[in-house]
Amino acid sequence: MASLSHPLKPRFLSTPKPKLQTNKCPTKVRMSFQESGPSIAVVGVTGAVGQEFLSVLSDRDFPYRSLKLLASKRSARKSISFQDRTFTVQELTADSFDDVDIALFSAGGSISKQFGPIAADKGAIVVDNSSAFRMVDGVPLVIPEVNPEAMAGIKIGNKKGALIANPNCSTIICLMAATPLHRHAKSFLPVSVPSSSNLNIRQFMLQTLILFMITYQAASGAGAAAMHELELQTREVLEGKPPTCNIFKQQYAFNLFPHNAPVLENGYNEEEMKMLKETRKIWNDMNVKVTATCIRVPVMRAHAESVNLQFEKPLDEDAAREILKTAPGVVVIDDRTSNRFPTPLEVSNKDEVAVGRIRQDVSQEGNHGLDMFVCGDQVRKGAALNAVQIAELLL
Ligand SMILES: NC(=O)c1ccc[n+]([C@@H]2O[C@H](COP(=O)([O-])OP(=O)(O)OC[C@H]3O[C@@H](n4cnc5c(N)ncnc54)[C@H](OP(=O)(O)O)[C@@H]3O)[C@@H](O)[C@H]2O)c1
Repeated sequence: MASLSHPLKPRFLSTPKPKLQTNKCPTKVRMSFQESGPSIAVVGVTGAVGQEFLSVLSDRDFPYRSLKLLASKRSARKSISFQDRTFTVQELTADSFDDVDIALFSAGGSISKQFGPIAADKGAIVVDNSSAFRMVDGVPLVIPEVNPEAMAGIKIGNKKGALIANPNCSTIICLMAATPLHRHAKSFLPVSVPSSSNLNIRQFMLQTLILFMITYQAASGAGAAAMHELELQTREVLEGKPPTCNIFKQQYAFNLFPHNAPVLENGYNEEEMKMLKETRKIWNDMNVKVTATCIRVPVMRAHAESVNLQFEKPLDEDAAREILKTAPGVVVIDDRTSNRFPTPLEVSNKDEVAVGRIRQDVSQEGNHGLDMFVCGDQVRKGAALNAVQIAELLL
């Protein structure tokens, strides 16, 4: 992986909202405009994820023959520069998806619920970033490095629309690191199971017993307006003024609090329950025990997570580190001597998920537990990049 030392890109820090007219795409000659490429629609293009979609499509030279940029009526007719061309934002309507092959949605759950099925009925393959369809039976919930097989058979070209869900950003970041360890543990199967045994074969295969997650989630996870509010509040607090609290109900700058998602009857909030349910669906393992506590921290961009895994079979920390070093999309930053480990700032605007603090959980005897600290840019790998990687599998 290239250096992880780049600071947070200034486009989000220095402007209240991402400036649509700012063309952050490099000026190199692009190969992505291709007559044979798919026709793409980006829904929610003016938002934090929508802007990142354009960045990722451009960075990966994703082929396209046409590009439709969609947002609310408020943004209709605004101009967006993309790859040396100027596009006009159009208002999202039921007619937006005629002749669209791939629709990348990031305009919130209610918009996805309303327009996702319309787009799929018209033959588009919808890759949706909201939670609208994640737990719907038959809708693949995909991290390309983890479970690409879940979307087998879905391709563009046969004019058959489909819905594919992008997991929650915190789920993606955690599972990018936890899955290679989980898979390794699973590969420690007994040579044979005695036919007389009363044990169910699943008991032998279930090797990750428990997954504990604590998240430290950035402002960008709540969208462009939340990033603006954190910047504004920081200035206000430093100037001795009362902080403006529009997006969050309490002071966010110089503070932290449990994730702002609604709290459910069982005491978990919706964000935490998403991580629990989505992990089981992605791992196709309804028996793995998962728990999470999600915290919102005053970081502008990129989430951090403290992850504890407990395995049925022992896994020592050196073996875990070696597994993670070769895991796709993962980089290990684990330097105990200089106390250097992943930080949100280091992974901001990066594709890879960084893992460090890999250590034996001393509360578990016999190397059955591991702790690690994971950081990932949730606007990028947690949303736009993951969705574009899914789209690449459709080509
Ligand atoms: N931020 C993240 O890290 C992240 C990660 C994973 C998933 N997600 C999910 O992605 C979605 C978008 O998140 P975000 O952070 O990008 O939010 P955001 O910055 O608030 O952007 C919201 C986008 O939705 C558009 N929109 C709102 N109402 C609309 C309508 N009636 N018709 C058409 N477009 C409409 C907005 O357009 P206008 O500018 O015209 O209002 C804007 O482009 C959410 O479902 C979120 O849960 C976000």
